[in-house]
Amino acid sequence: MVKFAVLGCGVVGSGVVELFEKNKALIEKRCGQELEMGYILDLRDFPDRPYGNKVVKSLDVILADPDVKVVAECMGGTEPAFTFVKACLEAGKSVATSNKELVAAKGDILLKTAKEHNVNFFFEASVGGAIPIIRPLHKCLAANDFTAIAGILNGTTNFILNKMIKENMDFSTALALAQEKGYAEKDPTADVEGHDACRKICILSSLAFGKHVYPESVHTQGIREVELKDVERSSELGYTIKLIARVQRLENGKILPTVMPMVVEEDNLLSQVNGVYNAVMVRGDGISKAMFYGRGAGKFPTASAVLGDMIEEVQLDHTIPAQTWENVNSTDFIEDFAAFTAKRYFRVSGEDAAALNAVFGNLASISAQDGETVCITDKEMNADDVEAAAKALNGKGIQVLAQYPVLVS
Ligand code: HSE
Repeated sequence: MVKFAVLGCGVVGSGVVELFEKNKALIEKRCGQELEMGYILDLRDFPDRPYGNKVVKSLDVILADPDVKVVAECMGGTEPAFTFVKACLEAGKSVATSNKELVAAKGDILLKTAKEHNVNFFFEASVGGAIPIIRPLHKCLAANDFTAIAGILNGTTNFILNKMIKENMDFSTALALAQEKGYAEKDPTADVEGHDACRKICILSSLAFGKHVYPESVHTQGIREVELKDVERSSELGYTIKLIARVQRLENGKILPTVMPMVVEEDNLLSQVNGVYNAVMVRGDGISKAMFYGRGAGKFPTASAVLGDMIEEVQLDHTIPAQTWENVNSTDFIEDFAAFTAKRYFRVSGEDAAALNAVFGNLASISAQDGETVCITDKEMNADDVEAAAKALNGKGIQVLAQYPVLVS
């Protein structure tokens, strides 16, 4: 018999407990032994829930029980999660976490601690909710030299954008609905400002390229500025606006991770990912492209990934898989955002196609309506090129009202 504990009984933690109770018989069959939910650590009491008698207030109770072999960390945030997870690993207990903030900020330390104590630090639930992506990257796709990862990694913002596009819902109503459904972070600014997607691309970049990428090194822009008008006008040209988390390996060998709204061509699969669904596209020299898709947030999808990690731990019984990266104490391997280039979507004042052609050269597409023009440039532009073009257009009496990079994946 193996006992487990759950730290934090919020949306994900209660999902772990409830999904385990629901599927206990088949989980035990797959593990080849009995499992017992030993403890739930939480500041609150849950007298009305069937597992209310399992609640403890001190981590020491869990640390002191030698039968607890695996701990699910579902508290969120870096502290006290980091201290608690480190203590569990040092006490010889493997940990499965859904906490991307923790993995993005402290993954290198926790992976090292796990290795030193011959236990595992698992984090499949930290990226893409229910989607298996961590294990595929470090196991099934381990033979590949990765060149790019691009994805929709935040369910809340994808849900909001979708409600705005399809139902004309305003931003705050859509956000409130995402919170009600349990998709959003405790502080939803982490979703809206792109920080949550940033943490997830940090984790995928670290895993794919072997060096810890910290959130501070990633150019991050959220969806707050996205106007309904651009959502509508970009679709006239056959594009959809999505919050894209992406990392590319450049020709100079450095990597360039970014999070920002981008316009995605409608025949690109990422443009078809709607609502709370996430998708991750991985490029590697062996596979060319592989795509992963599923529910990116929510109680049971995330709990499913946490429990999957816990089941693997019980099956493996402390065999360490090669899931790791190193802290190189340098950001030299990360390219500056100034080097980022892409074709661009522009929305500008006026309907002067000739002036736009004169500034941008040939345009891939253009559409004028109601005194404004939208277009997609044929050439790739960096931030300086965008600024120079805006100045040149200004000289012709044209204002740039919005611009977004075009995703090529
Ligand atoms: N707030 C996150 C999202 C939860 O909306 O994707 C899953 O990490």
